[in-house]
Amino acid sequence: MSKLLVTGSTGQLGRPTTAALRAAGVDVLGLTRSGGPGAVAHDLRTRRGLDEAIQGVDTIVHLASTNGRQDVEMARNLTDSARRAGVAHLVLISIVGIDETPLRFYRDRVEIERIALASGVPLTIQRATQFHSLIDMIFSVQKLPMIFVPRWRVQPIAVEDVARRLAELAVGAPQGRVDDISGPEQHSMRDLHTFWKQATGSRRPAVMVHLPGRFFAAYDAGANLVPGPGYGTKTFESYLQEKYR
Ligand SMILES: NC(=O)c1ccc[n+]([C@@H]2O[C@H](COP(=O)([O-])OP(=O)(O)OC[C@H]3O[C@@H](n4cnc5c(N)ncnc54)[C@H](OP(=O)(O)O)[C@@H]3O)[C@@H](O)[C@H]2O)c1
Repeated sequence: MSKLLVTGSTGQLGRPTTAALRAAGVDVLGLTRSGGPGAVAHDLRTRRGLDEAIQGVDTIVHLASTNGRQDVEMARNLTDSARRAGVAHLVLISIVGIDETPLRFYRDRVEIERIALASGVPLTIQRATQFHSLIDMIFSVQKLPMIFVPRWRVQPIAVEDVARRLAELAVGAPQGRVDDISGPEQHSMRDLHTFWKQATGSRRPAVMVHLPGRFFAAYDAGANLVPGPGYGTKTFESYLQEKYR
């Protein structure tokens, strides 16, 4: 029976992905630093013990993230071990528009894709737009009497929708980079702030900002958007209703 490993299985994307795979009858092992039921404990920043941790695994869905620079090292360690172990399929999550957006975090995502492609492990790369939770966080972290809202358009997606796509890809053959996915609706951040205010009961007004710099220019130009109909079905408003009801 084939065995599938999900790294970062306890993360916001890892949980629904693991659940979707298990619901489809797939034998899934998780991997996180803390381990736990159904998961092996391993820190992907460490090579020692990684070959043993992925022994007998046919497919890896790589979702573990420190949300920082160490993600590059983790990708290098994982792909090296996966190549040695003869893993048949690596599924990698990535982010829409990373090549056009000059942000360090995004440059690291480009490097992670490059490392994975160069490893020779057969793979599938799925880029997705921002998660609903990220947009929520952009508003929630601000503590001033007003909320600064960038003049971007965004097309956020629910982690459950990304998870459904990853589960489908993981049980299929490696496809290289597949079409980017986005949420069902494209909105201005001003619209999303209005929805957020309604859901949270916040009365803080939006202050629209247009910032200089190449990062903001890339977003202004829509580098973070996916043309055509969105893949996801859950809107930002539905996400907010579930979270704040
Ligand atoms: N947020 C967005 O809008 C967005 C959009 C598109 C793609 N993505 C990508 O989606 C991926 C998943 O993000 P997420 O929000 O689900 O992350 P998350 O909620 O922060 O979860 C991270 C997961 O990785 C594990 N982990 C962290 N450090 C580790 C290490 N050193 N070794 C092994 N496991 C480790 C964590 O478990 P432990 O702490 O127990 O180790 C946890 O299970 C990321 O690559 C992110 O860039 C995000």
